[in-house]
Amino acid sequence: MKPMNVGLLGIGTVGAGTFTVLSRNAEEISRRAGRPIRIVAVAEKDVARANEITQGTCRVVDDAFAVVSDPEVDIVIELIGGCGVAKELVLKAIANGKHVVTANKALLAMHGNEIFAEAQKQGVMVAFEAAVAGGVPIIKAVREGLSANRIEWIAGIINGTTNFILSEMRDKGLSFDTVLKEAQRLGYAEADPTFDIEGVDAAHKITILSAIAFGIPMQFDKAYIEGISQLNAKDIKYAEQLGYRIKLLGITRRTPAGVELRVHPTLIPAKRLIANVEGAMNAVVVQGDAVGATLYYGKGAGAEPTASAVIADLIDVTRMHTADPEHRVPHLAFQPDQLVDLPILPIAEVQTCFYLRLRVHDEPGVLADITRVLADEQISIDALIQKEPGDGEDETDLILLTHLTLEKRVNAAIARLEKLSVVVGKVTRIRMEELGK
Ligand code: HSE
Repeated sequence: MKPMNVGLLGIGTVGAGTFTVLSRNAEEISRRAGRPIRIVAVAEKDVARANEITQGTCRVVDDAFAVVSDPEVDIVIELIGGCGVAKELVLKAIANGKHVVTANKALLAMHGNEIFAEAQKQGVMVAFEAAVAGGVPIIKAVREGLSANRIEWIAGIINGTTNFILSEMRDKGLSFDTVLKEAQRLGYAEADPTFDIEGVDAAHKITILSAIAFGIPMQFDKAYIEGISQLNAKDIKYAEQLGYRIKLLGITRRTPAGVELRVHPTLIPAKRLIANVEGAMNAVVVQGDAVGATLYYGKGAGAEPTASAVIADLIDVTRMHTADPEHRVPHLAFQPDQLVDLPILPIAEVQTCFYLRLRVHDEPGVLADITRVLADEQISIDALIQKEPGDGEDETDLILLTHLTLEKRVNAAIARLEKLSVVVGKVTRIRMEELGK
């Protein structure tokens, strides 16, 4: 049968992995797809590197626009990244009637609505399994495997760099800065790690998951994003003593008031499976009304794990290529005319439990002052632990765990607490999730 012809834009780590796995498993892939899938053209600025990888098996050019306009190409794989030229190329490929496979989470989270609308118009597929959690087939699971369910919430460790850093901080009791440097030396963290450590990468991914879970448009601009750069090793230690681990979670939840869409460091009970996901691994919990909680775990980055997702998309597109566009799985899991505009809740309106750490003078009346503020703001305390002051110190740490409360109430309480003469400096606040039902 006539092979499916692929044009690859960018042959960096993931591109090279895709090339390798596609060649190594060509026979199995062809048996699954019903026809061979072959890369016929690669666009790469570093032509010498591309030639070295492809070894004369396909054309290598330095002009990606030539590939998206090449009549021989049926599917374009976009592995350039970012929202600049990658967006132009994807839109051009779609306009030229080509299917697109992309790992570009930023592009989809920020411009997915426009891209899917264009793809719809042209009757082509845009597949993006590799955009979230690398090799973990979470898009397929949410969009197809769980399609009987009303999805209630999703919580995921969807950034390996930050999970590696948090694991090391906990394991070795090191500071964020020390571990970040180590992560950069080992190649886990990029030279400019901002997108990872400040939660932006995870926010791109949870935005995509939120859209396919609830049938809503991509709304990255409404996501609440807080990274791990301000996290203190002390809080990781205290959390551990209380039976919790701190993870950077992407969370999206459907509530009667709207959809929560947020990324932040989160205390989760150490007994949960996801709390034990260590190092650069990814894991996502999806709670469906029928199935209950399901957990997906694996490598969220790397050449061959990500290639695994890219090639699964190539096989899907190859199988569905001749199907009527209406008979394909919709891009965002729900039929395009069935998307709903549920509001994304501002973080002030989100309800969670909180871990609060206060530095206080160790003297009579301190607890009374603090608990009065919390009572005034209708915040119910679940646990309160006072640490022993260090030798010769008259200050100590006070840890408070709250019951469910609105974030705006906690904001108001913290503002008042920080004005109390018994409280020293800033109050540390970390959100908590039970991740039970
Ligand atoms: N930089 C990401 C991570 C991988 O650390 O998980 C690609 O999304």
